[in-house]
Amino acid sequence: MDRELALEFVRVTEAAAIASGRWMGTGDKIAADQAAVDAMRSAFDSVNISGTVVIGEGEMDEAPMLYIGEKVGAGGLDVDIAVDPLEGTNLVAKGLPGSIAVIAIAPGGGLLHAPDMYMDKIAVGPKAAGKINIDAPVIENLKAVASAYERKVEELVVVILDRPRHEGIINEVRNAGARIRLISDGDVSPAINAAVEGTGIHMLLGIGGAPEGVITAAALKCLGGDMQARLYPENDAEIERAKAMGISDINKVLTIDDLVHGEDVMFAATAITDCDLLRGVNYFGGGARTHSLVMRYKTGTVRFVDAIHTLQRKPLFIHRS
Ligand code: FBP
Repeated sequence: MDRELALEFVRVTEAAAIASGRWMGTGDKIAADQAAVDAMRSAFDSVNISGTVVIGEGEMDEAPMLYIGEKVGAGGLDVDIAVDPLEGTNLVAKGLPGSIAVIAIAPGGGLLHAPDMYMDKIAVGPKAAGKINIDAPVIENLKAVASAYERKVEELVVVILDRPRHEGIINEVRNAGARIRLISDGDVSPAINAAVEGTGIHMLLGIGGAPEGVITAAALKCLGGDMQARLYPENDAEIERAKAMGISDINKVLTIDDLVHGEDVMFAATAITDCDLLRGVNYFGGGARTHSLVMRYKTGTVRFVDAIHTLQRKPLFIHRS
């Protein structure tokens, strides 16, 4: 994939974030999501790719736009795209931090076609890459990560979605003495934090969405982090669905390379509400300012893009970020 595409992709997530951020705090997560989807879909029209949505808003009959299998782009290289126009719908609706507009892109066949079901995940940053094992007890993973960071288990912070299904692992982490940041929604952004020094986050654990898992893997791959996962179907229909999507062994441990194959992946995200690494969309008279992260695995480039979008032509009074 040409490096020029990186900036094209960030335009796509910026468009979704600007549209969706207008709905912050309105309590209307459906409208916030719809705005993100509409804006992202139309932004793809000017990108020079022949894209296929492999992770999207749902099946063709349930999603009018950005459905799985939909073709997007103005024509060009064949790529697979995973989209989450609004990751963290409740967060935007409630005006809480942590929501992003996000895409991951790889040449055709480069992204696992993950069904819309749960996935058990463990994600860490570069220092702990190669040290995790999703089948090991929580305490073992904590010790391995602590040793990689040359610190005590008590000096680690683990992010976990605050859900009753996580009562067991929350207790295990607490008993081991590590600290926890419980989150209400949105596990992609904190997993990225785990791969960035200085965020104070060292690991993400627990069950969240499988589509979000593939997107997280793309980001962590670009950042040199690591992840393991396993699909977590809740009924026979989900098992059948996974099989129909080409996943024959539902219990397989999925490594970061199973989730995102190859050497040519790109990732772009724009914050909608404030995140640890990126500021949320800030509107001003006649425009908006966005903060995005765009990464390319092949070259290892990590760009933070601070952009001012003029939506109405008038003099700009730019403040330092
Ligand atoms: P949205 O689909 O509302 O954006 O939710 C995203 C999310 O919070 C993910 O980040 C997470 O992986 C998953 O939902 C958790 O699912 P659940 O809310 O069912 O526990």
